[in-house]
Amino acid sequence: MTNNSLQERSWWKEGIVYQIYPRSFKDTSGNGVGDLRGIIQKLDYIKSLGVTMVWLNPIYESPNDDNGYDISDYCAIMKEFGTMEDFDELLEGLHKRGMKFIMDVVVNHSSDEHEWFQQSRSSRDNSYRDYYHWWPAEKGKPNHRWSFFDENSDAWKYDEQTDSYYLHYFSQKQPDLNWENPKVRHEVYDIMKFWAEKGVDGFRLDAFQYVSKDITFPPFPEGYDVDVPSVIEYHGMGPHIHSYLKEMNEQVLSKYDVFAVSEGVGSTLQDAHDLVDEDREELQMAYHFEATDMVTTLEKCTLAQFKESFTKWDKSFAEKGWIAIYLSNHDQSRFINRYGSDKPAFKDYSAKLLNTFILSMRGTPYTYYGDELGMTNIGFTKIEQYKDIAAINGYKKAASDGEDLDHYLKKLNLLSRDNGRTPMQWDATKNAGFSNETPWLPVHKNHTTVNVLNQENDQNSVLNHFRKMVALRKDNLLLVYGEYEIIQEEHPTIYAYSRTLEDQKMLILLNFSELESSIELSNYDDSKEVLINNYSELSVDKNTITLKPYQAVVLKL
Ligand code: GLC
Repeated sequence: MTNNSLQERSWWKEGIVYQIYPRSFKDTSGNGVGDLRGIIQKLDYIKSLGVTMVWLNPIYESPNDDNGYDISDYCAIMKEFGTMEDFDELLEGLHKRGMKFIMDVVVNHSSDEHEWFQQSRSSRDNSYRDYYHWWPAEKGKPNHRWSFFDENSDAWKYDEQTDSYYLHYFSQKQPDLNWENPKVRHEVYDIMKFWAEKGVDGFRLDAFQYVSKDITFPPFPEGYDVDVPSVIEYHGMGPHIHSYLKEMNEQVLSKYDVFAVSEGVGSTLQDAHDLVDEDREELQMAYHFEATDMVTTLEKCTLAQFKESFTKWDKSFAEKGWIAIYLSNHDQSRFINRYGSDKPAFKDYSAKLLNTFILSMRGTPYTYYGDELGMTNIGFTKIEQYKDIAAINGYKKAASDGEDLDHYLKKLNLLSRDNGRTPMQWDATKNAGFSNETPWLPVHKNHTTVNVLNQENDQNSVLNHFRKMVALRKDNLLLVYGEYEIIQEEHPTIYAYSRTLEDQKMLILLNFSELESSIELSNYDDSKEVLINNYSELSVDKNTITLKPYQAVVLKL
């Protein structure tokens, strides 16, 4: 290639990721929990989407305090999900169909039930003691550290056995591993090699920005306020993060045809660059939280903020480094509820628009299972309905802080992670074809219409729109590497941009609004080929294009 594409080509840049939450995809064992054989059963469906990589949330042995993000054995499969033979068959099934596999690697912390932690907590002179961060109680209570899932937001947990506190940035059952200890790091590299030898093609490094921290745990500065960037600044991106990554690259990544993507990018664009700049030989890709963090209250983000964010991130990775493009995952509620509209008249249009967006940006697109159908939030109203530790402990904390609990429940109703974890909707039967038994989390009542079977038979379904967009991206390197240019950034309702590669150009017009909106484009002539349109028509009058509510079009110029 390239004239105006400045990026080197690679398969993971050209790929399209499909993320599966294994607990919720397909249950074959009849316990209401999805499993690996369920995914094996659906491999032809996954292939039919056109996606080229599959990322599974953790499938290792785990007591499931945080649904698999608390691992008690990194080289065994969670019993509820199946066996190592099932895993091998799944990997082979993907590879046979030309798809790659991404493994979730959760190594900022383990489960407290992991053998390492059992040893570590047993005595102060145990050889595993410094696999974790301990603070002897005789030194007094350690300085405050924030915990995401603790009901008091306190990352230090007192452990009687050795009269010491241990650190847990996430739940009390997720003690942080001590990356300063070279033995810990080499354990991690051995685990990664174990899976790379099996043939996995990529690693998603969970909560990785937190592995390096200031282990003197100084007090926070006066006025320190916990919001996400400052959480990262004071809890992660410590002094050794880059040397750890270089070591990981040298020990594992460079030895196999694999890539690694970091969850989180630090707190600045420079941090992000330093993680994924290919010349530094650390990671290949990272995903930032800016766009998903924009909707953290009951207010949606504005289109102006959304455009500004994506444009800024695109610009800073135009020449070097590579990012993931996503709008939802297992830590988010459904994208329709956050960026589109779940009103019956707009639900399908907005789902198609959001998928058009993800699949027409520069960066590797990640689609979360069910978004190809336009699945929506389940919208629980009572705390008893939630299964997610973040929701349950967050509610307890809000209660003890005297917060307005109705307001808190409203926030959970829109934003809770459980919204994005309900069972995959395969058909209109009782449990949506997910399981013969009561599912671990209820199926959405709209599964009677929003389901794979229904949508397979409808050329205009959200599912078939998704497939068309995937095919278009795969046929056009321009959509992967082409230069991105925003058009009329200040337009209040339409997000318009072009992608250009050598002498090819496409124009993408997305109406993020429940009302018709027009945009005037000078030199527009209607000889342009409409490649994608989520409506049957496009209204053009000379230089003015009028888009229907949530209309999304891709035009060839
Ligand atoms: C990451 C995961 C999230 C998990 C947390 C702790 O943010 O995406 O699901 O709860 O790390 O491992």
